[in-house]
This record gives sequence, C-alpha cells and structure tokens, in this order.
Amino acid sequence: MESFIIKGGRSVRGSLSVRGSKNAALPLLATSLLADGPCTFSNMPHLRDVQTQIKILNTLGVQSEWRGRQVHTKVIDSYNNTAPYELVKQMRAGVCVLGPLLAKRGECQVSLPGGCVIGERPIDLHLRGLEALGATVRIEHGYVHAKAPKGGLVGAEIYLGGVAGSSVTATENVMSAAVLARGTTTIECAACEPEVVDVADCLNAMGAKISGAGSPRITIKGVKRLRGCNWKVIPDRIEAATFVVLAAACGGELTIKQCRPDHMLAFLDIMRQMGVTVERRGTSLRVGPQSGRTKACDLVTLPYPAFPTDCQAQTMALAAISQGTSVITERIYPERFMAAAELKRMGADIRVANGQAVVTGVAHLQGAEVMASDLRASAALVIAAAAAKGTSTISRIYHIDRGYERIDERLSSIGIDIQRASA
Ligand code: UD1
Repeated sequence: MESFIIKGGRSVRGSLSVRGSKNAALPLLATSLLADGPCTFSNMPHLRDVQTQIKILNTLGVQSEWRGRQVHTKVIDSYNNTAPYELVKQMRAGVCVLGPLLAKRGECQVSLPGGCVIGERPIDLHLRGLEALGATVRIEHGYVHAKAPKGGLVGAEIYLGGVAGSSVTATENVMSAAVLARGTTTIECAACEPEVVDVADCLNAMGAKISGAGSPRITIKGVKRLRGCNWKVIPDRIEAATFVVLAAACGGELTIKQCRPDHMLAFLDIMRQMGVTVERRGTSLRVGPQSGRTKACDLVTLPYPAFPTDCQAQTMALAAISQGTSVITERIYPERFMAAAELKRMGADIRVANGQAVVTGVAHLQGAEVMASDLRASAALVIAAAAAKGTSTISRIYHIDRGYERIDERLSSIGIDIQRASA
C-alpha cells in the first residue's frame, strides 16, 4: 500500500492546470451507452474512478480507447446488461449506467453500490424516478433489476426531491433514461450542479431535447435515437477549490489555470470571508500573497449553488489553522467528518457533534502519521500536512488517486515537498 510523506512548511509558487471534472466524466461516459455512433470525450482526467467506469462500460459491450486526454467509446455489442458488484462496489458512480442501460436496452441488472464511509447513500430517488417512467424495478441478491415496459419508457412528471434536497446522480440517471422515452418528462427538484448541465449539454449534442438543466425543473422531450458526439468535459471545480485552499494554507502565490470560477461562487465567497487573497482572471484564479493568518468562517454545505460538501473537509483543514472559531455544518452527509479525527492527530482543535464541526484555529499544525479515509478527507490531510510544521505520513492514499490526477507530481511542481512511498 502506498503512502505520502510530506515535509510541511513550504510555501507554494507557480501554477497548476485544473483537469476535467471527475463527477462530470463518470456520468458522461455512461451516456455513450445511449449513442448509436462512436463518442469522443476530451479533457478526460486520468483517474482511478474513470478507469473503473470504463471497465464497467467494457463489461457492457462498449469498446474504449484512450488517446492522450481523449477517451473514444463505441458500443460493439448489447448482450451483457449486468454491471457487476466487483466494479460498482469500487465506486458509487457506477450506478450512472442504470438509466442509460434501461432506456437503450430495455432491461438491466446493476449492482447496488453498497456502503460508503461518508455516510448512508441510498439510491431510492434513482429507482423512484425510473419507476415513474414506467420501469419495473426489483432488488434481488444485491442487484437492481430494472425492466422497461413493452414499447419502452414513457415520459412522466417526476418529483425527485429527497430528505437532503436534490440528488446529482439520480437527476443524471433519470434524465439520461428519459431522453429515449415516449413523450415529455419533467423532473422537479432536479439537481442544479454544473455536472448535471454538462451531461444535459452532451446529450443534446447527441440529439436529445433537454431544456432547463441547471435549474430545479428539467424538461425532456423524448427522441427515438441518439447519435455519437465529441464532447469536452468541464473543468473540475472541486480540484480547483482544493488548490485554492492549499495555497491559502501554505502561503505563497499560485495561479490555478483552466478552471471555471463561475462554478465556484459560494466557495470563493467563503474564501474571501476567511481573508484569502483570491482574484478571478478569466478562467484562472490567482491566490496570494497572503497578508497574515486567515480567519474563521461559518459555512453550511448544501446542494449547488451553495457551498459543496466535496469542499468541506479541505476547508476544515484551513479553518484548523485560521484565527478564531469556525462552525461547519454538513447538511448533505451529516456524518462526513472523518477528516476531523486525523486533523486532531496533527494538533487541530475540532469538536464534532450532530452534523456540525466546531473548529478553533491553532497557530500551526504538527506533522503526524495519519490515515486517509475517503477522497476529500485525503485532500484535507494533504493540505494540513503541507502547511504543518514537521513531517507527516499519510497512508491509504489510493483514495486520493481516485479523484486527483498524479497529485504528488503536480504539488511537487509548485514547491510542496511530497514523496510517494510504497509501504
Ligand atoms: C454526487 C457526487 C459526490 C457529491 C454528492 C453531493 C458524483 C459522481 N458524485 O454524489 O461527489 O459528494 O453528489 O454533492 O457526482 N440521496 C437520497 N436518495 C437517493 C440519492 C441521494 O436520499 O436516491 C441523498 C444522499 O444520501 C445525500 C443527498 O441525497 O444526502 C445528495 O446525494 P447525491 O446528490 O445523490 O450524491 P451522489 O449523486 O451520489
């Protein structure tokens, strides 16, 4: 198992380019199941999760080929409609194949994604939405068995709200299924995340008729077939935000290139409240130089356009060394505070109770041996270790490789002392 050894205390300098969005890439790849022709997705990040999604597609008869940052896909047979447990368990977004498979092939079996360390993550909304389109859904032996009625799915009015509000992948799944349904579908309480918009825009480039993506009401007029397309994945707003926090925590100056600051407004607002010097320049963000310590913040995670849960752990690492007491409220995954226990090993003062973390900033963190528990918590630990005094070892870094491409090499290039070691 690999770990990172980080000697903290060095400031950052230079620039980093943001890769394509993981959370857009995964559902986008799944849409290739719907197309009658070949698809090319560019600006694809080289990530473990993307590889897993490609493996799932391969088992479903999709031929794929990487060329640089492009992935070319083509459906070569439609006989195997089962997305297996051994792949879907590695990555929840494997469930994104459910809607496209059902719509295109009329029948499919997709493994239930299983447990997740960031808290309970049901898929009831996905299933409810597909049932509303006329599908019969049953769960047997750990698999979702979904079947479209004779003549295919039928458009419907669907309310897709859950206890925590909208669901990103449920919206993508139901929207991707409805594109081939007979008649018109309306999704109410649709997720508004930029990744949903990217999937809708890509489907429209294939010939779908989707309007309203990016708002809580999406309308889809069913079409008979979709063609292949060329699609460029949007920049990863979570990766860009992670780099902003890293630069704020370490000091120095960093230019973050090829990002979409307009997708990051709630996050950037919190950064400014914390006193982070961050300036928008077109598709770049320039962070620093920082004058003095950053300040505490009060933040609440909520669906887009509010502050994203996927930036919460990284921001907690910054709050841990900011002046004053921050209150972080997690409304999407109330148990998503795994980073807190490890940050405390590094000297952070954090109390977690009832979906809230109260973080009292300390002057500096100390290097320590810590363990990554999930993707974004690992990013928080990398930030904390880079800013800390002394050396940290972060184990189980396979989590970070799921969502950040060659992070060690990229952070080395901006001055962070980070080494990958095999234990
Ligand atoms: C997506 C992102 C993930 C991010 C999350 C929340 C991808 C591949 N992943 O995950 O990085 O952390 O959005 O922004 O895009 N819920 C239900 N029933 C459902 C589905 C969800 O109750 O059927 C609840 C969840 O438990 C959670 C909330 O809805 O409380 C939002 O989850 P959701 O938007 O579905 O997350 P994902 O799409 O899985």
